[in-house]
Amino acid sequence: MEFGAGELVIFLDHQERSYLQRLHPEGRLQTHHGYVPHAEVIGREPGVALITSKGKELFVFRPTLVDFTMNMPRKSGIIYPKDTAYILLWADVRPGSRVVAGGVGSGALLLALARQVGPSGFVWGYDVRQDMLDFAARNLREFLGETGNLALSLRDVYERIDERQVDSVILDVPEPWRAVDQAALALRPGGVFVAYVPTIRQAESLTAALRGSNRFGLVETVEILVRNWHIRNRSVRPNHRMVGHTGFLTIARQIIRPEGQAPTEALETDPESVTETSPPNDQI
Ligand SMILES: C[S@@+](CC[C@H](N)C(=O)[O-])C[C@H]1O[C@@H](n2cnc3c(N)ncnc32)[C@H](O)[C@@H]1O
Repeated sequence: MEFGAGELVIFLDHQERSYLQRLHPEGRLQTHHGYVPHAEVIGREPGVALITSKGKELFVFRPTLVDFTMNMPRKSGIIYPKDTAYILLWADVRPGSRVVAGGVGSGALLLALARQVGPSGFVWGYDVRQDMLDFAARNLREFLGETGNLALSLRDVYERIDERQVDSVILDVPEPWRAVDQAALALRPGGVFVAYVPTIRQAESLTAALRGSNRFGLVETVEILVRNWHIRNRSVRPNHRMVGHTGFLTIARQIIRPEGQAPTEALETDPESVTETSPPNDQI
């Protein structure tokens, strides 16, 4: 469908520069490599190649979620798409899911969650700062429009999570171990807990709290590394630059251990110490 006035679009050039704008009949995209009047875009199809006033080619699209997330205004660190993608699958977030997200920040994770759960699901976003909630609400509205599947509230997740029987609790707060008990109350049996933390010290403290709580099991921590490749003529190699570090993801499942039954984990063989002849399933 052709672009109309008032639509959100992204201009992308060959140097991976991107420009997020709303189309206006009088507006124009201004870059170091010349300008393009919005009037040249309105009425054209997404993907159209345009030439700036200085002769450079660029393309215009409706922004994908990744385009929007990486170009939207930020007031905090955000969870990057590589980590969000993993969170969505490992927390099994799907249409109809009910999710609590602690630490709304700029709303990057919330965008992906609200879109994924769809109109039959619901996302409760908590933050201790009203300015963050207002800021995130603007980003969410800008990309998703008005949705009926999202509630943003001023609340401290260390103190209280009111929702019950939710499918997952996903946290991006500085001390997620302080929210473990509240998360256990909120989750349905078998539900998934995920926390994103920038340092391994935080992942360590969180792991200890999850293992110590008796309400969580199968605790694991991962780091997602993505390496882009440069492929041009005979030059085929990894890019010189990559996103070196964002954070760690600690994931656990809500469990029910009958009263008096002690965890046997300490007695079991550490799978890491077993010599493998073929990759274990968790590396496939
Ligand atoms: C790094 S930002 C979250 C970024 C967000 N995940 C995103 O992708 O845009 C962390 C947020 O957690 C909030 N926060 C810190 N402690 C909190 C708590 N105890 N309960 C709820 N929110 C908290 C901060 O105000 C901040 O907005």
